[in-house]
Formats: sequence, structure tokens, C-alpha cells
Amino acid sequence: MRAAYASKFDDDNPLAALAVGDRPEPVPPGDDWVTVEVRASSLNHHDLWSLRGVGLGAGQLPMILGCDAAGIDDRGNEVVVYPVVPTPADPRGMSILSEHHQGTFAERVAVPRANLVPKPAELSFADAACLPTAWLTAYRMLTTKGRVDEAEAVLVQGAGGGVATAAVVLALALGKRVYATSRDAAKRDRIAELGATALEPGARLPERVGVVIETVGAATFDHSLKSAAAGARIVVSGATAGHEPKVNLRRVFAMQLEILGTSMGSAAELADLLALCRDRSVRPVIDSVHGFSAVEQAFARLHSGAVFGKVVLDHTR
Ligand SMILES: NC(=O)c1ccc[n+]([C@@H]2O[C@H](COP(=O)([O-])OP(=O)(O)OC[C@H]3O[C@@H](n4cnc5c(N)ncnc54)[C@H](OP(=O)(O)O)[C@@H]3O)[C@@H](O)[C@H]2O)c1
Repeated sequence: MRAAYASKFDDDNPLAALAVGDRPEPVPPGDDWVTVEVRASSLNHHDLWSLRGVGLGAGQLPMILGCDAAGIDDRGNEVVVYPVVPTPADPRGMSILSEHHQGTFAERVAVPRANLVPKPAELSFADAACLPTAWLTAYRMLTTKGRVDEAEAVLVQGAGGGVATAAVVLALALGKRVYATSRDAAKRDRIAELGATALEPGARLPERVGVVIETVGAATFDHSLKSAAAGARIVVSGATAGHEPKVNLRRVFAMQLEILGTSMGSAAELADLLALCRDRSVRPVIDSVHGFSAVEQAFARLHSGAVFGKVVLDHTR
């Protein structure tokens, strides 16, 4: 079957490590696994990290990339694939599809049956394929970790990214005042169109916020600390621009801040997120949809840093 996979690692130019071609059909490792016919998938920064060799060893190559998918299961049901798989061999006890198990950028993917979540009919395959990683991460950052119901205002850093646009849309849907920073003027316009207040990185906010959504890291962390109200939660799920920020500990204890790390979310949280999208007509922000035959273009688009929202692959093209 056709697939997009990491054939090697290239830290400087991850696109050079991407291969597209024929890979063997998935073989479910047990009776409790099932093969899903992928209709749509979406790219994450994780896929670029994998091509750089972050989180993958040479012994795991070739590895089909892709964490996110929506498709049809072996019984004909429309499903969303929850990408976190129990993995005893991994020190975390779990892994995300494309780490120890072949990923979703293929015609078919094998997953535990327990990882199938029904796709609401109201959501297209492209919409649904955006939700399992970036949107689930943002949902958990805001709700379970950030306790956003206790906050009135939220700051989202690096707002053009997949997780960040999700956080903006979800925080607005949950009735919060949302501030979002982006380095790019055009992206700031798009953020304002969504209903948030767009700011340049480092700009002073008109108020301190109860929740900060951090995926940028070293470039924005000091601003996150300064923008946090007393008792605020700064929730971190990524560090695209450096993972060793300088942290003013005096501010952390004086303002009684909580700095919370998080990764992905649970299958139950994914079901809650799908229900929220269905019930409140929330739809993911999609940067672009590419036919699977143009998967290299999709990767180049993500790598360019120009994206606003999710980059989607349509597996029927
Ligand atoms: N832990 C998890 O479960 C989990 C899940 C998903 C993602 N992540 C992580 O979260 C991060 C974001 O993922 P994503 O898929 O949303 O990535 P993405 O779509 O590629 O977005 C990254 C965003 O970061 C901002 N950025 C990049 N370099 C920057 C810099 N030097 N200064 C300021 N901002 C910068 C950009 O925002 P602007 O251009 O708007 O400034 C960019 O849009 C990644 O590190 C990823 O590994 C973690």
C-alpha cells in the first residue's frame, strides 16, 4: 500500500528524510486490534520531529509517519483513531502512533479496537482527522489541566500553530476572553477574525490571565510568566522554539503560579471533544487540504512555519 514514511533522519532538513512509496499492509498484532481504512489524516509538528530523529531510533526505521486519522473500521463504521497505544517497551508505558507502531499516513493502519471513537456524522473526515492530537492536546490543556472554568481570560502563545489555533477556538467556544500572540501580522489578522485579541509576541496584555497555553517554549516563556494572574496555570505541551527557557522563580512563588506539563489526552477526553464540536458547531481551523499524492507539499507547508491551523491529507486523492 502507498505510505509516507521516515527512511532516515535529517536534523537540518527533515523533508529530505521523507519517503513516499510502497509499504507492507499492516498486520494487527492481536485479536483486539483492527485495521482502519484511512479516509483523511492530518500533520503535526511531531511528524517533523520524527524525521529529525527525535523520539525514534534508527532501529525503528522505516516508520510510517502520522498520528491522526479518521476512516472506516472493519465493520463499516466511521471512526476517529485515538493515537495513544499502550506500549510496555516504552518508558512512558505508552506511545503515539508512528513511534513504536506504524502511523496513519497510509491506506490502512492497525490500531487496538479500544482506540476507535465513533465519528459524529456532522463532522467531515477532514475535520475529524484534525482532532486526535493537536486538538485533543489543546482541549486537555484548557480543561483537565488548565481548569479553564475557573478563569475568565486565556493567553495562547504562537497562535498560528495546530495546537494553538485549537486552543483559541476552544477557549472562545467555552466563553473566555482570549489573547493570542503570533510573530506574523497576517496570522494576527486571522486570529482576530476568530474572535480573539491578537498581539505581537511579548506585548503587554490589558489584563492578567488565568490560563496560559504554551507550545513555543524559550521564546515566549518569560512573557507567559509576566502575563499570568495570581494562581494562574501555565500549561506546557511543547517547546518548538527551545525547551530550556530562563524561569523567574520569584514570580512563580510570589504569584503562586502552577506550571503544568501535559501530553495528548485520554480516549474519554477525545470523545468529549468530539461531542463539544458536534453540539456547539465548533470546527477545526484547517490551513490546507492536500491529496495524499501531494504529501510532500503538505510536509513542506508545515515545515515553512507559515501554517494557520491544520494541514490535512485527503487519502481519497
Ligand atoms: N505533548 C503533546 O501531546 C503535543 C501534542 C501536539 C503538539 N505538541 C508540541 O507542541 C508544539 C506545537 O505543535 P503544533 O503541531 O501546533 O506545531 P505547529 O503547527 O508547527 O506550530 C508551531 C507554532 O509555534 C510558533 N513558533 C515557532 N517558532 C517560534 C519562535 N521562534 N518564536 C515564537 N513562536 C514560534 C509559531 O507560531 P507563530 O508563527 O504564530 O508565531 C508556529 O505556528 C510542538 O513542539 C509539538 O511537538 C505536543
